Amino acid sequence: MKFFLDTANLDEIKEGQALGILDGVTTNPSLIAKESIRSFEEHIQAICGIVDGPVSAEVTAVDFAGIMKEARHLSQLAPNVTVKIPMIPEGVKALRQCVEEGIRTNCTLVFSTNQAIVAAKAGATFVSPFIGRLDDVGHTGMDAIREIATVFDNYGFDTEILVASVRHPLHVTEAALSGGDIVTMPFTVFSQLMKHPLTDIGLERFLRDWQKVKGRT
Ligand code: E4P
Repeated sequence: MKFFLDTANLDEIKEGQALGILDGVTTNPSLIAKESIRSFEEHIQAICGIVDGPVSAEVTAVDFAGIMKEARHLSQLAPNVTVKIPMIPEGVKALRQCVEEGIRTNCTLVFSTNQAIVAAKAGATFVSPFIGRLDDVGHTGMDAIREIATVFDNYGFDTEILVASVRHPLHVTEAALSGGDIVTMPFTVFSQLMKHPLTDIGLERFLRDWQKVKGRT
């Protein structure tokens, strides 16, 4: 299972990278808007310089020609840029064209198994089902991951399932059990993965007892 950070914050990305278990980064226009940056392109390049793996940068055009213009531009920014394209008909055409041009893609705003199948048929490198937003409207987001994993397995699709809109650590566990290839998560969730109160209590006790041993020598 691969871990991506869902953030455009350079400090968080540096901290995640330093742990040695970070496989990539996803951004979107809302995450970019949270950062005070001068140039979108330079910011994406800065992220790409920190992380070894794929970095998703999202297009904002909604017509085929516009999406392709942005996709070509973004893909030139760094070798590890993945172009994020929304699940709309013009986006599907662009996903296919990106395959022709050797541009790696992440099909975003996916909320159903059928949308994921379409993205895979169009040749998307990654497909991003938004689990948390499905939960928000009363669905069980993780059901989509289980279904998509089964379908991709049935038909041998190469597209990787990038579990997105992750809100808490249990989403990560469930994604791993449900067949997700990658989980992209906010830095808070990433940090919580390492935490358990029994670890803290256990460590405190070991260190206290070790002081007793040292006191004897
Ligand atoms: C990542 O690719 C998505 O843009 C992101 O996970 C959306 O998360 P949100 O629903 O918390 O905004």
